Amino acid sequence: MDAKKVAVIGGGTMGNGIAHVFAMSGIPVNLIETKQEFADRALSTIEKNLDRMVKKEKIDEAKRSETLDSISIFLDVKEGVKDVDLVVEAVPENFEIKKSVWSQVDEAAPDHAILGSNTSSISITKLAALTDRPEKFIGMHFFNPVPVMKLVEIVRGLETNDETYDVVEETAKKLNKAPVPVNDAPGFVSNRVLMPMINEAIFCVGEGVATPENVDEVMKLGMAHPMGPLRLADFIGLDVCLDILNVLYDGFKDPKYRPAPLLVKMVDAGKLGNKTGEGFYKYD
Ligand code: 3HC
Repeated sequence: MDAKKVAVIGGGTMGNGIAHVFAMSGIPVNLIETKQEFADRALSTIEKNLDRMVKKEKIDEAKRSETLDSISIFLDVKEGVKDVDLVVEAVPENFEIKKSVWSQVDEAAPDHAILGSNTSSISITKLAALTDRPEKFIGMHFFNPVPVMKLVEIVRGLETNDETYDVVEETAKKLNKAPVPVNDAPGFVSNRVLMPMINEAIFCVGEGVATPENVDEVMKLGMAHPMGPLRLADFIGLDVCLDILNVLYDGFKDPKYRPAPLLVKMVDAGKLGNKTGEGFYKYD
């Protein structure tokens, strides 16, 4: 089976990036949002990112228009998934929201459709169990900014079958991404390795070992990271980092994953990083 048409549910930071890369690879996308204003915001972000690519001469004007023309907006989940081969869900990391979305998808998507979640922290096996086709359920974990980052972590749940894995791996290659298989476990591989580093960087700030700027300089200049861990935490969202650390902490019952008190405090204060204009740094 080939994924000839896909539905992307959620047009936020990850969802609009995922729709962008599918559409740019010539795969038509039904982009599903809850309100027209959210859909408009997603489309204008995609346009802005395509304009940036035109300016850098990575794509031409024709490719830009073709990409935008391949995206259709839907405000109803069941309508948006009824004629697709693959669904990629990128709604907020809240189990109740995902539960409601997946029950609608399972009811309306064609029987052959593969169901993929871009969750960064919720168990793929647990999400798969919300549907009547856990063998067709898989994690398709993209990285921000999606048009730039090569990796797609492909997460196999307990019951994911080989055919589902193969189709999703092939699809990721068509997007010009590098698929890496992992099995379902808290934080998968990416966030199990990344989040303890970010958390430790926050402990350093909280304990007065160094300023955010200096922690970031150490990791950028000493370890060749493109962004320091605190700038990256702001970019990901401090609330998202805290949620993922809590998944690791609860999942492994190991105190090494306990969230830094300063991270909890900043989330309580509503300083969530780029999206609220302030985190470890201030943003316009
Ligand atoms: N769309 C399209 N292109 C984009 C883009 C976007 N949204 N954002 C950046 N780019 C392109 C730029 O055009 C530029 O292209 P060029 O190399 O041809 O000139 C290139 O990316 C680099 O961008 P900039 O020059 O504007 O800025 P930087 O050199 O500072 O790079 C960055 C920006 C790519 C974000 C880089 O800092 C980086 O790689 N940071 C680390 C990002 C990271 O670790 N992401 C993973 C987060 S974890 C995650 O997502 C998982 C989740 O579960 C938490």
